Amino acid sequence: MDVTLITGASSGLGAIFARKLAAKKNNLVLVARRKDRLDKLAAELTKAYGVSVFVEVADLSAPTAVYKLMKRLATKKLEITCLINNAGFGGLGAFATQDMARQTEMINLNCTALMQLCHAVLPSMKLRKSGSILNVSSTAAFQAGPNMAVYYASKAFVLSFSEALHEEVKPDGIKVSCLCPGPTKTEFFDAASASSVKLKFFAGAAEKVVDDGLAALARNQAFIVSGIMNKIFVQAGRLSPRFLSRAITKRMNIS
Ligand SMILES: NC(=O)c1ccc[n+]([C@@H]2O[C@H](COP(=O)([O-])OP(=O)(O)OC[C@H]3O[C@@H](n4cnc5c(N)ncnc54)[C@H](OP(=O)(O)O)[C@@H]3O)[C@@H](O)[C@H]2O)c1
Repeated sequence: MDVTLITGASSGLGAIFARKLAAKKNNLVLVARRKDRLDKLAAELTKAYGVSVFVEVADLSAPTAVYKLMKRLATKKLEITCLINNAGFGGLGAFATQDMARQTEMINLNCTALMQLCHAVLPSMKLRKSGSILNVSSTAAFQAGPNMAVYYASKAFVLSFSEALHEEVKPDGIKVSCLCPGPTKTEFFDAASASSVKLKFFAGAAEKVVDDGLAALARNQAFIVSGIMNKIFVQAGRLSPRFLSRAITKRMNIS
């Protein structure tokens, strides 16, 4: 069966991707750690849209998680024709004071698992001469982020990697887009222990971000910054001297 795999589908952007894609009659594989939430969403989508929805519980920051997930999907004879690489988290605070295990998990999830999933799905997409991959980065990808140093660096990796992949697989008929949201109303700020972070004040609607991402993927746009204010913010950052951009970002990333 052809399926769309969505990571981080238990909340926020991932759950909205699931609702939108189920409404377009995609069969889905939902991946995250919170099984209760995934089960509830799967039941809702099956009932509402009559699609098949498979729940896969996985901690994608674990070193062999992607390998094990792909093995389970192969056993079920599920073919991933669309991959939404959405799972990710951030953490607020000066790098030296952060828990090293948590920072490593962040790299494992935001970068390594995302890259491994792309590598796992590409061979069959190449054979079929079709397929789509949407990698979720952030406006954080465009500058350094003092007080969220590892998170910003991880999202720069996602953007750079996705743009390169976009060019590499274009001749194979495979679409690769990178979605760069700005601050968005999801559970992200709770997970980042950033309940009072200034950026939360500017948080926009999650639905619009998902619509922008899916539209960019449909037209195979290499990357999209979602929202007019975020586009202005990114361009202003690109035109500013880097010391200024760093200083402003540091002030923004204070809880
Ligand atoms: N919200 C924002 O302001 C914002 C801005 C720019 C970019 N983004 C990016 O958007 C993406 C989605 O985040 P969101 O805003 O929707 O936040 P969210 O509501 O916190 O969702 C994060 C999702 O990732 C999953 N996840 C976290 N750790 C995981 C792990 N170890 N293994 C598997 N799944 C894991 C979570 O599920 P479980 O906890 O159930 O595992 C959850 O479904 C992320 O990549 C984030 O960096 C968000």
